[in-house]
Amino acid sequence: MDKYNATGRVKKAIDIILGLLFIALLGYSFTGAPFHEVAGIVFIAMTIIHNIINIKWYKAIKKGIYNRKRKIAVAVNFALAADMASILLTGIINSRYLFHTGIHMAGIGRIHAVLALAGFVLIAFHVLVHTFGRVQKKYKVLPAALVILISLLAVLMDVWLLPYVKRHFLTVEVDQETAISGESVDFNGRKILTVYFTRVGNTDFADGVDAVSGASLLLNEKKEFLGNSQVIGQMIQDAAGGDIVSINTKEHYPSSYSDTVSAASEEMGRQELPELVDMPENIDGYDLVFLVFPLWWDTIPKPVEAFLNRYDFSGKSVIPVVTHGGGGAGRSIEDIKAVCSGTVVEEPLEIYCGDIPYCREQVTEWLKGL
Ligand SMILES: Cc1cc2nc3c(=O)[nH]c(=O)nc-3n(C[C@H](O)[C@H](O)[C@H](O)COP(=O)(O)O)c2cc1C
Repeated sequence: MDKYNATGRVKKAIDIILGLLFIALLGYSFTGAPFHEVAGIVFIAMTIIHNIINIKWYKAIKKGIYNRKRKIAVAVNFALAADMASILLTGIINSRYLFHTGIHMAGIGRIHAVLALAGFVLIAFHVLVHTFGRVQKKYKVLPAALVILISLLAVLMDVWLLPYVKRHFLTVEVDQETAISGESVDFNGRKILTVYFTRVGNTDFADGVDAVSGASLLLNEKKEFLGNSQVIGQMIQDAAGGDIVSINTKEHYPSSYSDTVSAASEEMGRQELPELVDMPENIDGYDLVFLVFPLWWDTIPKPVEAFLNRYDFSGKSVIPVVTHGGGGAGRSIEDIKAVCSGTVVEEPLEIYCGDIPYCREQVTEWLKGL
């Protein structure tokens, strides 16, 4: 094997590993945070090696003529470098295992994900320009068409495929105790009630729904299902103290996620509110109510509306906490205000469902700021 071939093979091997690693990194929801963080660091290290091996490109940058194609290629490479640096920075800020920066920024995970999808498009372009140069010469429109196709694919992945797969097929195992417990926050003797509504407590899961097929669910070490909003409610109670109650419906929701989505849609169209069971007589003794719920069809689930209708909230502050699949708080806050007019409804905390197992610190910091 001569020197040229050996370098060429190393280059190719590194590029293939980089491609595979990037795909694995995009599958964060499936691999979990620890793998994602380690793979991210390996990816950045290999990207640096890729740049060192291709140092010739930098040396030639000031030489030769710049036609339109070359200008675009150079611009894409610099955009890719800037994108990778931003991915690294947001990744470090968002890190829960390898780095502890102490910086908490709302929405940083989302920014990281959007930068990664932009990286997906830029990498596709970068590969096309550098690998398929000959093909480009032959078929002039092919690279442009491919870039448009890949961009559409990235957008489709972000807005539809990943959220769909997460909601319908993903079950994440969590160590309930570790996920929930953490630092306490002092509320100066205020009487706190945490109320949560979750699909899990209000569903009779079919026997077939287990660790593999249970959709959009968390599973604790005893293989019991946990609702996202339940976990957040328990985090808040662990940090802020006070009491915790769940909102329980008489009629249960269907076992399958898709059927629950349809059932909730039908429920939204009905005038009457669902009947609640095993609820406290009153909530008179509390002055601060954390209301934790999943965003359903861009608003509060009907059982939450039933809860708000049932009790007198005058003189209390309601602090909404919304868990969601990408829609943020939607129009839930306006709808809460409409149901309990005259009550102080504070700014909500919005938590993306994929972040639930790892967000205890975020919850603590938010509570401290109230
Ligand atoms: C019936 C239903 C409707 C939903 N509608 C939305 C929605 O409009 N926007 C959104 O971002 N997520 C939506 N989701 C996703 C949930 O808000 C998200 O998975 C939440 O964290 C689930 O919490 P839970 O496990 O406590 O029920 C919906 C989920 C269900 C079951």
